[in-house]
Amino acid sequence: MNRFVTFIFCFGLLSTFTTSMARAQAVQDFHSYANPAAVRVRHLDLDWNVLFDQKILKGTAVLTVQRVSQTEPLILDTRDLQIEKVETSVDGVVYSAGTFTVGSSDKILGAPLTIPLPAKANRVRIHYSTSPGASGLQWLEPAQTAGKKDPFVFTQSEAIHARSWIPTQDTPQVRVTYTARVRTPRRLLAVMSAENLSGTARDGDYSFRMRQAIPSYLIALGVGDLRFRSLGPRTGVYAEPPLIDLAAKELSDTEKMVVATERLYGPYRWGRYDILVLPPSFPYGGMENPRLTFATPTILAGDKSLVSLVAHELAHSWSGNLVTNATWRDFWLNEGFTVYLERRILEAVYGRGREEMEAALGLRDLKEELANLEDRDEILHIDLKGRDPDDGSTDIPYEKGALFLRHLEQTFGRAPFDRFLQSYFNHFAFQSITTDQFVAYLKQNLLDSNPALAAKVPIDEWINQPGLPASAPQPTSTAFTRVEEQARLWLRGELTAAKIPAAAWTTQEWLHFLKTVQDEVSVPTSREGDRVKAADRMVELDQAFHLTRSGNSEIAFQWLLMSIRNRYEPANQRLEEFLMTIGRRKFIKPLYEELAKTPEGKERALAIYRQARPTYHPIAVTTIDDVLKWSGQ
Ligand code: BES
Ligand code: ZN
Repeated sequence: MNRFVTFIFCFGLLSTFTTSMARAQAVQDFHSYANPAAVRVRHLDLDWNVLFDQKILKGTAVLTVQRVSQTEPLILDTRDLQIEKVETSVDGVVYSAGTFTVGSSDKILGAPLTIPLPAKANRVRIHYSTSPGASGLQWLEPAQTAGKKDPFVFTQSEAIHARSWIPTQDTPQVRVTYTARVRTPRRLLAVMSAENLSGTARDGDYSFRMRQAIPSYLIALGVGDLRFRSLGPRTGVYAEPPLIDLAAKELSDTEKMVVATERLYGPYRWGRYDILVLPPSFPYGGMENPRLTFATPTILAGDKSLVSLVAHELAHSWSGNLVTNATWRDFWLNEGFTVYLERRILEAVYGRGREEMEAALGLRDLKEELANLEDRDEILHIDLKGRDPDDGSTDIPYEKGALFLRHLEQTFGRAPFDRFLQSYFNHFAFQSITTDQFVAYLKQNLLDSNPALAAKVPIDEWINQPGLPASAPQPTSTAFTRVEEQARLWLRGELTAAKIPAAAWTTQEWLHFLKTVQDEVSVPTSREGDRVKAADRMVELDQAFHLTRSGNSEIAFQWLLMSIRNRYEPANQRLEEFLMTIGRRKFIKPLYEELAKTPEGKERALAIYRQARPTYHPIAVTTIDDVLKWSGQ
């Protein structure tokens, strides 16, 4: 009896052990249907025709898979894909017809595509096309481009939109290498987050290869009338012809940034670093697609004042693309590390003063966000089960994450912390990791060697609690202290706007000034007299500094936000024009939110949105539909 029980027990243990060995490589990802622990995609061979008239990609994806389980099917993520036919192969030469089922579709996750695999089959060829409304693609009419002559299409795969244009295991813990062949109209150029194998010929037939294993959210494609300009030995920029000169001038510090980052964190491992400047409907500031950062044209301010975005996307070549969040709840490992690195790069290239300003602006935004978020959304290791991962994209992963690393740096000293980060990037290179893996590595390689210092950083509070620890750093800027003094004098009426010594202010100083006076100028009251006073203040500032006409997108955004709050009507037309031409979520979301706070504002918002909606990216549409409770009015 005893021996029998022991036998059962051992057998149970053994089978648990072998299963967990086989499955050990996968972690639970609530945002994917895939089963990488049983069958894992390793490589993709993609082949598409880019059909602008139908607004679809049509072609094939060949998936090379690794099978741990010989019985389980391959499960992929899809969203709105038309699957025509599936074939399987054991040698990659001979393919035979296969079967597949598409499960029911979830609003956030899309639908699972299940493909049974015959014995020994390790390749699957899927014939498919995307749908015109694919969430990861935006098809632009010529009128929405700078050149106005040709159409444009670009992808945005992060967080879970790759599945709307590639049937694959769309979880960041699955990394793949890929090749692609892309056929386009002859006048257009295709670019991807990969090596370009087609040389300089513009013949409408382009080939690419990515030899380093990357998560699906980093697969990217852009097609348009693009020109290239070299910026350095391994850096360059692509943009439409009317923008290429401006872009090349604005981004001319890119090579310097790569060199500075290598000095801090070790070699750049991706070969080239190019930037693709997109049309203004691009819904983000930037996207760190490997070898080819995608960027909004709204960073082209003319004075390099917004190139922190390049530092940020470049930094992802270490934090994010090399060491990747395993699931979207670990997103702060990507973005918090990247904001920290971004500021170190800015300090190295533009000096400590610039870094201080950026960090102080970051802290200010974080505090504002903390005042408005629910507790559950203030946690770095956020629980996103059942939610859209794009909901996790607040200042928490970015700024709270960066502040946590700043706290570690200040506690353990810059040199030891730099060594720690270098070893972290090397240790986990080309892997996707969880927050727990990071914490374990942090303990072993930094905290445990100095318990006295470790006691000063409340790790669990940083990672698992809302708000900020009391000991959190509070970055300040001496330049900003002077700006605050000027703002105060002006607000007290001791200085006229025209006398504010703003001539030499940087964009960051302007932003700080506007945010500082905004808190004072905006009068949250219904008293007519106060409102008139607030609007008078706006008039005075505008007359002195022509802020309504500012060509700097960040300053214009800040000013327009204030204009809505203070009912400064002379800015109305500029606001409309801004919302009609720019689709960057970070700008348009707060503007629509501010408008929606009053009944008249809501009316205006709806009138503008009715016209602008068809020009926005599907991701931006989802966001603004929600802000305005849009139901097709
Ligand atoms: N990876 C992000 C963009 C992103 C995040 C896309 C989540 C989809 C889901 C990118 O690196 C980023 O953070 N961009 C910022 C700019 C940056 C300077 C803070 C943006 O777009 O505003
Ligand atoms: Zn980022």
